[in-house]
Amino acid sequence: MSAFLRACRRQPTEYTPIWLMRQAGRYQKEYRAIREKVSFIELCKDPALACEVTVRAVDQLDVDAGIIFADILLILEPLGIGFEFTDDQGPRIGTPVRSAEQIDAVREEIDAAVALSYVMEAIRLTRAELSVPLIGFAGAPFTLASYMIEGGRSTTFYETKQLMHRDPGAWNALMGKLAQAIAQYLNAQVKAGAQALQLFDSWVGCLSPADYVRFVLPHVRTIFEQLDPAVPSIHFGTGNPALYPLLKAAGGDVVGVDWRVPLGAQWDTLGKQEVAIMGNLDPAVLLAPRDVMNRAADVVLQEAAGSPGHIFNLGHGVMPAAQVDQVRALVDHVHEASRR
Ligand code: CP3
Repeated sequence: MSAFLRACRRQPTEYTPIWLMRQAGRYQKEYRAIREKVSFIELCKDPALACEVTVRAVDQLDVDAGIIFADILLILEPLGIGFEFTDDQGPRIGTPVRSAEQIDAVREEIDAAVALSYVMEAIRLTRAELSVPLIGFAGAPFTLASYMIEGGRSTTFYETKQLMHRDPGAWNALMGKLAQAIAQYLNAQVKAGAQALQLFDSWVGCLSPADYVRFVLPHVRTIFEQLDPAVPSIHFGTGNPALYPLLKAAGGDVVGVDWRVPLGAQWDTLGKQEVAIMGNLDPAVLLAPRDVMNRAADVVLQEAAGSPGHIFNLGHGVMPAAQVDQVRALVDHVHEASRR
């Protein structure tokens, strides 16, 4: 079995496996060249191009896993929520969902294998070309709901929290529909060939632990309960260290943590015998001089202390300003410095 899949299972590996969130993206000149010809959505919906972009990231970086090129927002289309990607503002939802009537109108069930068949086809094509495992993914209910309700990017999440507190019934109805659709979508990706899954709860860190327990955790738990246990799952959240024990409780074989926590102490808190851990280099360190970056990566490796079950990653995605040779140097350094 590959080092990445073994680490997901907390089995010993000869070196620490590494992959990077957003390992395919604008920091690569080949990606920018494709994006001059097609929009981001067109790229996501073209299986041959999505496969090309996914495989190129693995080849250029020599990482231990690929992640299918797609986006967490694609599932909104079959749910009946129109959106677009703008060049400057990021994603924009046509009509934000803010009333009980609008939540009623969100579709109950999707057949992801049909509605998102282009993702399934991209997974099949990519599996045929990759020699490392392929990760499928989805956005978590809170993060998706926040886009639907805010209408785009937010720093305060006031609209989302307002709906959650004003009308818990409507909130739970929305979260329940999202959880069902997400579970169905993730299982369809496994059928198409995904060998591991990641649930991205990128913005859930804006919540207090008590609100996470009441308004989010039960819904996320229903997703993990429906996933095939033969395929390891990664539960990623950022921004709020107090939530990590709760993310673990909600489910997943691996908890993905950001750089705001010391990885070793966080892993001790979660239980090294109970869950694997992914992380957690600050992506900004990619912009530092190479020796500074390597020292920072060494700190992460020392925190993990070679214990089985550490998957090296950034605490969030590679940024567009990163340089490909620097990112590749990080991967090479982690492989060399962790060899046992
Ligand atoms: O390489 C990979 O990691 C796989 C592809 C991937 C993308 N988005 C491609 C993408 C994955 C796993 C995502 C997940 C995603 N999408 C998340 C969760 C992870 C995170 O970063 O927190 C979120 C919140 C989104 C929503 C999203 N998509 C935003 C906010 C934006 C705009 C910001 C930006 O970086 O432009 C996107 C667009 C997007 N998704 C791009 C890529 C490569 C850039 C699109 C482009 O202009 O080419």
